[in-house]
Amino acid sequence: MSTSGKLYFSAALALGISIILFQLYGRGWPFGLDVPLDIVNVEGRGRGLIATRDLPQGYLILKENPLFVIQAEDLGRRLPSTLSNLDKTDREAFFQLSFPSDIPNSDIPEAILRTNGVSIRSNETAIFRLLSRVNHGCSHATNSVLSWRDNHAVLYAIRPIKKGEEIFREYVPSKFSRKVRRDNLEALYGFRCNCPVCLLSPVETEKSDIRLSSIATIEAELYDRNKLGKEEADPKELVRLAKRVWGLGETEGYWVGRGRLAEEVSTIAAAYHDSDACRQWARLSAEWYGYELGRDSNQTLRMIQISLNPTSHPYWGESRKKTEIGGPDE
Ligand SMILES: *[C@@H]1O[C@H](CO)[C@@H](O)[C@H](O)[C@H]1NC(C)=O
Ligand SMILES: *[C@@H]1O[C@H](CO)[C@@H](O)[C@H](O)[C@H]1NC(C)=O
Repeated sequence: MSTSGKLYFSAALALGISIILFQLYGRGWPFGLDVPLDIVNVEGRGRGLIATRDLPQGYLILKENPLFVIQAEDLGRRLPSTLSNLDKTDREAFFQLSFPSDIPNSDIPEAILRTNGVSIRSNETAIFRLLSRVNHGCSHATNSVLSWRDNHAVLYAIRPIKKGEEIFREYVPSKFSRKVRRDNLEALYGFRCNCPVCLLSPVETEKSDIRLSSIATIEAELYDRNKLGKEEADPKELVRLAKRVWGLGETEGYWVGRGRLAEEVSTIAAAYHDSDACRQWARLSAEWYGYELGRDSNQTLRMIQISLNPTSHPYWGESRKKTEIGGPDE
């Protein structure tokens, strides 16, 4: 290579490296992750995250490693050592998370954990820099779903989210009346829910309460697996119930759990040897698991498998009766 060739080569290399560094670090906090989110103060809810642009349904909003994971039991003893094991930036990030204002200094760490902890398995709570800041939203306020994958969490948009809209997820299921939801959240997380659904007018609240309670009651009956395949079960009645839940959810704008709901019907179809119905419901389930948990989630892949080969369903032919139960559009 000539001297000028070498010079051009070095210049190109330097430019390339700068571009890579800019991509990695130049996009601001946190550490160059290109997240379409902003942390803002929101009236009545402390701080929250808002979308900085329109996000389509099924969009992966965030993928984040926790600052730490802690056993939910025996917190008092575990928390101080967990915090002292964090490096300085992570510890600072922890203390920047929100907590109720009327807390004595000595209780702040536990209050932060209680307010920001994300339950990731039956026994474990995780704290995240960003995900911990997603506020709880009841019913149709919920526009995202968080799920845990081995060592990190993902947050997907369950419906299209507009630029400037706050991101909400459910800390606890919200298929309860407003009063029950608020009492649950106060007992578990120490805050009074002021999500848009809890702030509806009394008339709207009553309508929404009736829909949510009906959804809960019908789902409980539907998910009672023991009924499947038993002689007294009426598969067509079960499918009617599932469609009723789907319809109530549509009116309410509450879409969480649709993947599982459609999976349930695909299971009924499988148990009663209806391969066409099983295929269609499994496809619908895969679509909704895709929005909630990601198109690469195990649930989505499992339902795609079943839609391609209904007889591979673990409940295939569980009942001796054959029944045509019909697809989602019938
Ligand atoms: C929770 O953690 C404790 C202590 O590590 C363990 O003994 C127990 O089996 C766990 N429970 C569940 C439900 O995982
Ligand atoms: C699928 O399940 C396996 C085993 O439980 C787990 O290790 C893996 O992370 C899961 N993958 C996704 C994408 O959820």
